[in-house]
Amino acid sequence: MNIGVLTGGGDCPGLNAAIRAIVKYGSKRYTDRFVGIKYGWKGLINKSMPIEERVTELTPVTVSGILTKGGTILYSSRTNPLSQENGLEELRLSFDELGLDALIAIGGEDTLGVAHAAFAKFSLPIVGVPKTIDNDLRGTDTTIGFTTAYTVVTEAVDRLHSTAESHDMIHVIEVMGRNTGWIALRGGMAGGADIILIPEHPLSIEEICSLIEERRRQGKRFSIIVVAEGYPLEGQIIKSEQKDAFGHEQLGGVGDRLAAILKAKTGFEVRVTNPAYMQRGGIPAAYDRFIAIELGERAVDLVHNKRFGRMTAIARNQVTDVELSEVTGTRKVPLELFEKMRWLFG
Ligand code: F6P
Repeated sequence: MNIGVLTGGGDCPGLNAAIRAIVKYGSKRYTDRFVGIKYGWKGLINKSMPIEERVTELTPVTVSGILTKGGTILYSSRTNPLSQENGLEELRLSFDELGLDALIAIGGEDTLGVAHAAFAKFSLPIVGVPKTIDNDLRGTDTTIGFTTAYTVVTEAVDRLHSTAESHDMIHVIEVMGRNTGWIALRGGMAGGADIILIPEHPLSIEEICSLIEERRRQGKRFSIIVVAEGYPLEGQIIKSEQKDAFGHEQLGGVGDRLAAILKAKTGFEVRVTNPAYMQRGGIPAAYDRFIAIELGERAVDLVHNKRFGRMTAIARNQVTDVELSEVTGTRKVPLELFEKMRWLFG
């Protein structure tokens, strides 16, 4: 078969591991040929770009040596065909133009939302593979990129511990995750953060200060706080006015605001660290490589079994697949999970 592969949305570690797995497995197991679509959906619908800027041939040779490489050799964009006139129609026409028998779209909620729309409207032969550092995709227990991202946060918490303790300071670490707290919770827990603030279940400033005071009473004159970028501080999410093609504002700045409040209320010196795009860059953790291989292999099998309109997924540590329609909507941190972990705070 002639199979297209694309990566859409924010990049993350493990995308290249998935591309490599898809191409290597499909070529060896089924003698498939692969067309790499560059810049996500943009490579399929933006016909004003020269063809060599839109597509590239993928072979076991061209994907050799990319397993450990961060980012995506196919590049990415947040292009949304659904926000453009005839966007889906252009997408459909590209299947004929490029002679595609199927498409494997590696993406998060936005990219796979488009995949689902194209499948629902035109029955296009599309299969999805889940990736996002935010881990906020429904239908799967985890996503490619998440483990690496929260490991970066854990390392930041580890490193900040010693300096916070040496200077009797509060250190605030602002982390990604958009409107969910998966990265903050997992990275903060593994690093031993004293307080973790997530968008789904906010604590009041009084609760935060009383945890810091409780530590002071115990003789602990430093605290490490992990706050998710989408945290509604005193009810307000700090975000840009501008929206991307999928309607998302850019989040960021809550760490500095929180620091100013805590300095005024507790008298401690407060410093802010933002690992920002370091959470998305660099070599993938072993687990992200591992699931990228398993999810990629399953995607090729789905194509050959003509089970389109589905996304490969991880459930209870096993690879499986679900309907793309199940993936829409954001997967939030459940209250029970957050409450269960509250004993870690303070
Ligand atoms: O979805 C991944 C993510 O890194 C979020 O955690 C973050 O809010 C957003 O992307 C940043 O978007 P951009 O890549 O447009 O700066």
